[in-house]
Amino acid sequence: MKPIDVGIFLPIGNNGYLLSATSPQYMPTWTLQRDLGVAAEALGYDFLFSMSKWRGFGGATRFWDFTLDSVSVMTALAASTRRLRLIATMSPPLLHPVVAAKMAATIDEISGGRFGINIVTGSSLAEYDQMDVLPRDYDSYRYAYAAEWLTVVKRLWTEASVDFDGQFFHLRDCVSDPKPLQTPRPFLVCAGVSEQGFHFTAAEADCSFLTARTVPETRALSNRMKQIAREHGRAIKTATPMLLIIGETDADARAEHQHYVQGLDRGAIDRLYASYGGSSRPSAQARIDRTISSAAFGGQVISGSAETLANHIGFLVEGDGIDTILLMFPDYRSGIQMFAERVAPLLRERGIGALTVRP
Ligand SMILES: Cc1cc2nc3c(=O)[nH]c(=O)nc-3n(C[C@H](O)[C@H](O)[C@H](O)COP(=O)(O)O)c2cc1C
Repeated sequence: MKPIDVGIFLPIGNNGYLLSATSPQYMPTWTLQRDLGVAAEALGYDFLFSMSKWRGFGGATRFWDFTLDSVSVMTALAASTRRLRLIATMSPPLLHPVVAAKMAATIDEISGGRFGINIVTGSSLAEYDQMDVLPRDYDSYRYAYAAEWLTVVKRLWTEASVDFDGQFFHLRDCVSDPKPLQTPRPFLVCAGVSEQGFHFTAAEADCSFLTARTVPETRALSNRMKQIAREHGRAIKTATPMLLIIGETDADARAEHQHYVQGLDRGAIDRLYASYGGSSRPSAQARIDRTISSAAFGGQVISGSAETLANHIGFLVEGDGIDTILLMFPDYRSGIQMFAERVAPLLRERGIGALTVRP
């Protein structure tokens, strides 16, 4: 059986990942995050993941105008769960590495060694404008900045005292104790897809989160990431996010998806476009185009019966394909249950070990 990890992309922004007036409308309360975490643990999921977002997109649905802080939510979940791995997002320009190193060691201690960091360099720099926090020309060296930040964090995690004179950070006899529980360190993930992002991820992360339009494209990206990691003398896992719409039949699921597309929040899309679309990054435009056609932001929408979804995921993960899937749903409470009860058993029948941990 090929084991895969299955995680939940927690809805810490209002309405989750659908920019639509006809999808479920809800606030990202702590109660919701806790209930999902506790349920996911009982159902055998492997990890929880949350993003870091500092500015929403307005529109009729006020998309992501309400977001919880990623690290705070994961800290609370560390105390509310016992087994799941917990991945919080940290953005180097917003957190001094000395603060980040201690926060991570603290959450690793609270969780008993289950903490990981998603390192981001800012997919939309527009959200940082309100803070005036970015160093000059940051966009042109974001991954060099992240690499130096991470070097400092890793040294603080392992050395008694750190002296460091870098381009961006300067430490004198700097200490950080306790060290994280995990050895060699808390795990690291990154979703960089630019050339620099790809190389940073391949050189530093334990898992790379990738998005693409189709199964072959996603598998090709995954192969390329694994190849670049090998060139860095490392092995890396790959993951992809997906929003699942599970119906009794394919037609039911597609109709549900179409209903959400019809309710697309055009006001929020305009702000999203202004925020990401003006970017010189090729990946940004592709993400917005996908959002307009699917009403979802953050990953591909896969709709269908349980059999169709199991087939789709099967094609992604089989052989040397993707190792990890990160799931989103229109309604998370019912979605995580339906995936566990209907889709995961079909994957296991195909020889794909999804949700095999029996709590
Ligand atoms: C699953 C996933 C989660 C992400 N979470 C965040 C996030 O919380 N904050 C952020 O600024 N970017 C986030 N991103 C964007 C990536 O970090 C990255 O910036 C993007 O894929 C573009 O790649 P590049 O930075 O190499 O240009 C996420 C991407 C994916 C696929």
